[in-house]
Amino acid sequence: MAEMRDDIAYILAQEDEIKEICKNLGARISKDYKDKNIIIVSVLKGAFVFCADIFRNISIPCAIDFMAISSYGSGTTPGAVRMIKDLGVDITGMDVLIVEDILDSGNSLAYTIELLKARKPASIKICTLLDKPDRRQAKHIVADYVGKVIPDEFVVGYGLDYDEKYRNLPYIGVLKPEVYSK
Ligand code: IMP
Ligand code: MG
Repeated sequence: MAEMRDDIAYILAQEDEIKEICKNLGARISKDYKDKNIIIVSVLKGAFVFCADIFRNISIPCAIDFMAISSYGSGTTPGAVRMIKDLGVDITGMDVLIVEDILDSGNSLAYTIELLKARKPASIKICTLLDKPDRRQAKHIVADYVGKVIPDEFVVGYGLDYDEKYRNLPYIGVLKPEVYSK
């Protein structure tokens, strides 16, 4: 039987490290948003696992909603960004914290922020588990909360996919290049 682990070249962030990251970011967010009207906007699908962990590490009252955007299709290079599912609540006047799995080219976040800004929230900030700064195209996109800065490698697991697979790995690993070059 095919085991996902066989397609991983090496592990970049183990479960323990991710747990620690979520704890630390959750504590910072709880402090920074103490007197604010926070709503987490989770960007599906990649961020859903991270979001669930971050959410449980926030100790202040916190709303949450989900939107889905797509930027990749089935490859490993960015394509056009489009919205697949919109938020169900009005974010006007709220302090929006966008929770993302990974900040790569920055194009998806640039798109998402423009879209949300038009709805007049009180503030918008970004929390991303991973940051791949080497590949940034949208230079103005800077994350306010970063879990881990990583090199320019294609990673999977903990919500991140390749061709809709590997999202259920509990850690983050670098995919063997032969998996996506075949
Ligand atoms: P960006 O628009 O290039 O910043 O890419 C953002 C989205 O692309 C992320 O939310 C991911 O869904 C996907 N992505 C970027 N890099 C990777 C990766 O290394 N592995 C899996 N998905 C990725
Ligand atoms: Mg994503």
